[in-house]
Parts: sequence; C-alpha cells; structure tokens
Amino acid sequence: MKKLLIALVALVPTLAFAAGGGAPLEKANIDLNDQESLQRGLDLFQNNCAGCHSTQYQRYERVATDLGIPLDEMRAKYLPEGTKIGELMENAIPDADAAKWFGASPPDLTLVARVRGEDWIYSYLHGFYEDESRPFGVNNTIFPSVGMPHVLEGLQGLPVKQEDGTLVATGGTLSPEEYDQVVRDITGFLVYSGDPIKLERERLGWWVMGFLFIFFVVAYLLKKEYWKDVH
Ligand code: HEC
Repeated sequence: MKKLLIALVALVPTLAFAAGGGAPLEKANIDLNDQESLQRGLDLFQNNCAGCHSTQYQRYERVATDLGIPLDEMRAKYLPEGTKIGELMENAIPDADAAKWFGASPPDLTLVARVRGEDWIYSYLHGFYEDESRPFGVNNTIFPSVGMPHVLEGLQGLPVKQEDGTLVATGGTLSPEEYDQVVRDITGFLVYSGDPIKLERERLGWWVMGFLFIFFVVAYLLKKEYWKDVH
C-alpha cells in the first residue's frame, strides 16, 4: 500500500515553475476556485492594465462565462465602444507608439503566467521602488530597468528601498495587506487567462477521484467475494 501511495504521489505533475534570476520570489498563493477573487482580478486588470496590455488570446464572452459574470454586465463594464462580446480582448495602443513611449512595447499578457510563473508576477507587482535615474522614476527588484511605470502607485504608494534592501511604501490608499490581496487577485486572473481549461480540469479532477474511489471499493468487495470460497 505504501509503495502504491508513493507511486501515486510521483505521478502528480509538479507545479513548480522556473523562477529565473533576480531577487527571491514571494509566494502568490492564489486560489483558482475563488471566483470572487478572479472577478476582482479581471476588474483590476481592465481598469489598470488593459490600457497598455492586451489579453488577446481570450474572448470577452469566454471570460464572462468562466468567471460567472452575466454577459450584460461584462458588456457594460469592460467592452470598448463598438466591440462585440465574442471578440478577442485586444487593446487600443498601437505597438509602435508604445515602443516610443516606454522604450519597449507592453507585451500581451494572456500567457505571461505560463512563461513567468505566478510567483514571478506577484513579486514583480511588489517589486517597484523609487529610482530617480529611471525615466518613470521607478525601478523593479524582479525586472531591473523595467520600461513599465508603477501603475498601482495610487493604491500601494511609492516604495522606497531601505538600507537592508526591503521596500517600504508610503502614500497609498491601501494597507500592505490590502495591496497584497489586490496583487493576488490580478495574478490569479492572469493564471486563469494563461490556462482557462484549468478551472474545468480541477472540477473534473474531483469527479475522477470520486469515481476511482467508488470503483476501488467495488473492486475490493468483489475480490473478497471471489476469494471467500478459496480459503
Ligand atoms: C502605461 C502602460 C502600462 C500599463 C498601464 C501597465 N503596463 Fe505592464 N508593461 C508595460 C511595458 C512598456 C512593459 C515592458 C517592460 C520592459 O520590457 O521593459 C510591461 C511589462 C509587464 C510585465 C512583464 C512581462 C514580461 O514577461 O516581460 C508584466 C507581468 C506586466 N507588465 C504586468 C502589468 C500589469 C498586471 C498591469 C496592471 C496592474 C500593467 N502591467 C500595466 C506597460 C504598462
């Protein structure tokens, strides 16, 4: 039995992502079953990020359905004028302009969580700090010389690097814990975005486990029944 368990555990695919250089990453601890968190993540993303970044491999309709948002609400809140609910979530900034303004185009973020990993995104959004030598006045511990401004500064405040390397933010509207949650919500939304089937797969997973369990019980009882007469 013990061997069987070990074999089963070994089969569970590892969830580890490659971290890639820079400062050590903080744990995002997102929960894809928390639909309200994903809805807040979408809302935060649309209001703070979608002006520059697209999630162009996603359609508005699919996202609304997956996150349990009524289509009318989705239309009213998030669709740019003249856009249909079945369309892809593309953004308004032309690449060439963006490259001129920021020195780099804001990349599409549909798959960023798969490429970078959830902890990376979580840490990146915690990594902005004051640096007068940079064009936008900020640098990032996870992404040195980043071309993106600290767009959540109003919420977090402007972090200043202390002598021991920690960042202390002042002047934001949120407490540090509230800001952690905001970043967790956005990260969760991006993880969902990169792998929309994951939500369904996790739900299905429980059914499969349930089926296997019932099957195991039946098989066990059957075995007992068959061997009863042999002994
Ligand atoms: C004003 C435009 C702008 C806004 C708004 C913006 N970004 Fe960015 N973002 C950029 C640019 C430009 C880059 C590319 C930086 C570089 O390559 O130096 C970038 C890069 C990133 C990256 C790194 C992607 C990678 O793999 O290299 C992530 C993640 C990201 N942004 C997330 C966000 C999130 C989340 C928000 C909303 C909270 C947001 N951005 C809002 C301009 C923006």
